[in-house]
Amino acid sequence: MTSFNQVIIHRQTTPLIGAVSVPGDKSISHRAVMLAALADGPSTIRNWLPAGDTLATLEVMRALGVVIEIDRRNSHSWDLRVEGRGLRGLKRPSGSLDCHHAGTAIRLLSGIMAGQSFPSVLDGSEQLRKRPMGRVTEPLRLMGADIRSEEGHAPLSIRPSALHGMEYKMKVASAQVKSSILLAGLYADDAVRVYEPGPARDHTERLLIAMGTIIAKSEGWVTLGEAPLGGRRLLPLDMTVPGDFSSAAFPLVAAAIVPDSQITIKQVGINATRTGLLAMLRDMGANITLSNQSVTGGEPIADLTVSFTELRGIEVGEPTVVKAIDEFPIWTVATTQAAGQSVARDATELRVKEVDRIAVMAEEMRRFGANIDEREDGFTVVGPQRLSGARVDSHDDHRLGMALAVTGLVAAGTTVVDDAACMADSFPGFIETMQQLGASMEWGAAG
Ligand code: S3P
Repeated sequence: MTSFNQVIIHRQTTPLIGAVSVPGDKSISHRAVMLAALADGPSTIRNWLPAGDTLATLEVMRALGVVIEIDRRNSHSWDLRVEGRGLRGLKRPSGSLDCHHAGTAIRLLSGIMAGQSFPSVLDGSEQLRKRPMGRVTEPLRLMGADIRSEEGHAPLSIRPSALHGMEYKMKVASAQVKSSILLAGLYADDAVRVYEPGPARDHTERLLIAMGTIIAKSEGWVTLGEAPLGGRRLLPLDMTVPGDFSSAAFPLVAAAIVPDSQITIKQVGINATRTGLLAMLRDMGANITLSNQSVTGGEPIADLTVSFTELRGIEVGEPTVVKAIDEFPIWTVATTQAAGQSVARDATELRVKEVDRIAVMAEEMRRFGANIDEREDGFTVVGPQRLSGARVDSHDDHRLGMALAVTGLVAAGTTVVDDAACMADSFPGFIETMQQLGASMEWGAAG
């Protein structure tokens, strides 16, 4: 069987035009299936994202005894019916729980597994085993969790232990760490308070509130109060997952940099903790409008329309960085096409994503002839830069792969992105979506 692990891109000589939708939000899809599994009763989750990362979570929940029925609406959008087993109803798994590449899966599940009455082991791919886990094991241990790592890395071995209330100040604003603590807090004997130094995505809080849990927020502190008399219970969910802003970011930037383009991306989540890139692109002069605004599953959504304009360089640092943390690879592409200097600061977290997204992005962009000046906490780009088609590699990082494919649209000649199958870790159908907009991008068999 031919395996398609390569994408071929030709310089885009016609505008990108049309209206598309993007698959469901990855962060919300992970959380919805985990929390639905812990609810009292069946949940319905529409437009759930069947991507590499979220499927790992779905399989982990099944390994924990949760029955999940799937209605495959299409290859990018599933409807799930999850038979919630209640907070204390998960079953002991027969082997270790495989989170593949998914940092969100392993870090959030570590909080849930710390509260169970049976032991478990959370593990994943070689790539995941390289990512820091001390950021979750440390606070969970302070709550009383019995959790061991391999010198701060997966596999994580967790044994049953009583969890206590806690007040914890996160050193970096991380939604994964905050969520892990809140999820463990569902099993704690007292209130749990987490301080976030910046506005990390709040999907866990929104879902917990929708499930009947009281969460208070004040001056950076997020508080899950003590359990009510009679113990905690989560109400089932009945929700539709919004389109993923982080996936929309790729066609959005593509249309902002390919001359004369105008596209609309429908029903995208515009939660303010996620849309830093919108503000960044607007500061650069991009023409982006929002329409059809509504709310689904407790999350605001809108149609995003972007049309091509000349961009100018900007400087970005906290508090915007955390709201755009997954968008830096594609924003880097925009900066190469903008006039003047763009600077990213306060972005050291990029170095501990799927790969070191500062070093690896700079290295791959150099193959196009781009000049990216790296610093410990970010980078500087002076544009506009003339790029030439190149053979580049995703390093098995989905967002890097898609950013490189978009770069190919503005590079002279032909570009080949190797190791491209990983794009489906977050955005199944990325190439087909870009083709719907007229992009000259296609799958090729790996050479
Ligand atoms: C995520 C949080 C972010 C983000 C990741 C998804 C989440 O990670 O980069 O892709 O769903 O909670 P950090 O919490 O490490 O910043």
